[in-house]
Amino acid sequence: MPDAARKSFYLTTPIYYVNDAPHIGHAYTTVAADVITRWHRQRQENVWFLTGTDEHGQKVMRTAEANGVSPQEWADRLVEGSWKPVLQTIDAINDDFIRTTQPRHTERVQAFIQDLHDKGEIYAGSYEGPYCVGCEEYKLPGELIDGTGEYEGLKLCPIHGRPVEMLSEQNYFFRMSAYTERLLALYEEHPEFVQPASARNEVLAFVRGGLQDLSISRNTFDWGVPIPWDTTHVLYVWFDALLNYATAVGLGSDDPQEKARFASTWPADVHLVGKDILRFHAVIWPAMLMAAGLPLPTTVFAHGWLLVGGEKMSKSKLTGIAPSQIIDHFGSDAFRYYFLRAIAFGQDGSFSWEDLSARYHAELANGFGNLASRVAAMVGKYYGGALPAAGEATDAERALEQVAAKAVADAEAAIDRLALQDAINAVWTLVDATNVYITEQEPWKVAKLPEEQAPDGGAVQGGRLATVLVTAAEALRSLAVLLHPVTPKAADALWESLGAEAPLGALALQPVDGAGRFGTLPAGTTITKGASLFPRLEDPVVA
Ligand code: ME8
Ligand code: MG
Repeated sequence: MPDAARKSFYLTTPIYYVNDAPHIGHAYTTVAADVITRWHRQRQENVWFLTGTDEHGQKVMRTAEANGVSPQEWADRLVEGSWKPVLQTIDAINDDFIRTTQPRHTERVQAFIQDLHDKGEIYAGSYEGPYCVGCEEYKLPGELIDGTGEYEGLKLCPIHGRPVEMLSEQNYFFRMSAYTERLLALYEEHPEFVQPASARNEVLAFVRGGLQDLSISRNTFDWGVPIPWDTTHVLYVWFDALLNYATAVGLGSDDPQEKARFASTWPADVHLVGKDILRFHAVIWPAMLMAAGLPLPTTVFAHGWLLVGGEKMSKSKLTGIAPSQIIDHFGSDAFRYYFLRAIAFGQDGSFSWEDLSARYHAELANGFGNLASRVAAMVGKYYGGALPAAGEATDAERALEQVAAKAVADAEAAIDRLALQDAINAVWTLVDATNVYITEQEPWKVAKLPEEQAPDGGAVQGGRLATVLVTAAEALRSLAVLLHPVTPKAADALWESLGAEAPLGALALQPVDGAGRFGTLPAGTTITKGASLFPRLEDPVVA
């Protein structure tokens, strides 16, 4: 049971369509979510991290048909064979995984829409217009682009580049237009509701243009949640999918434990999404919650796209790179680090093997990994692997400790802005400053000074060499705490190498805010030089 005294932090990823296996675009969102939630866990908050899969709708149904299996069988195969395993591949530790075909979801969805129906928020009508199955979205004629080549004469979805389909159906409608003013007031009063600013501007412009009522049912196929008062219709897949964020934490459940979870978790702090699905989250979702009288989430954050050849990497265009293609070679830590460090969170970015390899070697192997092994090697060589007692600190030590304190403060503030690149940049100031510190202090030269020689053949306690190595070890300890959310495997290995668990406890329990204070590892702590945190690698062979 959640501990009510601790601050709660609830973050979600989109629930992904199971029409195909995950590519690095999906992994990007989930890694970002995992870094943010690990960071909050390390602040000792009550974290709930939800991800999952979106299994209804025409897109999934057609893929299953094309593969000659039922949609449920197809979804089961993809979830168990691809979507759940990729979480381990990328080293994400979610608290729950929701599937929209689970009864805990479908039953609560039905109760939700019945309630909206009872409140007069839903009416029967007819819909005619273009629909993109790739987006599972009703399009406005003005949004479409003209087809060329094989699609000459057709209207295409601007995201998928595929022809839209004309729908003409009897549907149920949600009175979304009635929420236009309340939504505008929400964006006005809570600028933090849609982030970053570019996303907020887009949403504002869209809603200022006026909202139409939303068709929320389909009656030409049956792969969806049946509308309770008219089971010849299934619920529109986005209405079904958005509700996962609330059903997964107990919305509409009678079970006391589930009720308690909902009370302590809802509303969500952050819905992390790609900018392709911003409007669903920033317009339809809050309107649904307003109609139901439920509290609104704090923030919808839309990040940018990973691009291939200048276009959004996508399943439907077959430009997807599987996360394992990168991780088998570089490891999950490098994957996690690379995408968050190389791309400003919120902007688009292109992936390249050359850039990944260059950053891996310059930043992770030489900058960070090498620093850790050099320090451990010197403590081994001069002190037999037992951390010495430091002597008097000089300005150089105090300056490094200040860099650490500032790195912590800047990274914490960046995490609160969801500026993940800024957070890692802040941490890296400490990596760089520690490397400079060692280069300038030249401990290998200090070790040769006559006053540093101990009778046993090693170096003296409390001397200059001891001070330098203890200070470097303290910087590494800070880095282990700060990098644990980003590169958990390397941080764990570093914690192990510093022998920090015995005096300080588990790495996951180290509060972030105190991570910059030096003088915590006691003299005598056993330092061992383990395997390289980031060994040098040959360039990957890319097919
Ligand atoms: O839209 N770059 O699912 P989906 C960055 N089921 N992120 C990318 C990306 C790329 N090239 N490609 C995908 C759906 N993503 C719905 C969501 S939520 C209630 C329902 C990520 O499988 C990004 O987070 O198409 C994007 O928003 C999401 O995957 C879309 O996944
Ligand atoms: Mg998509």
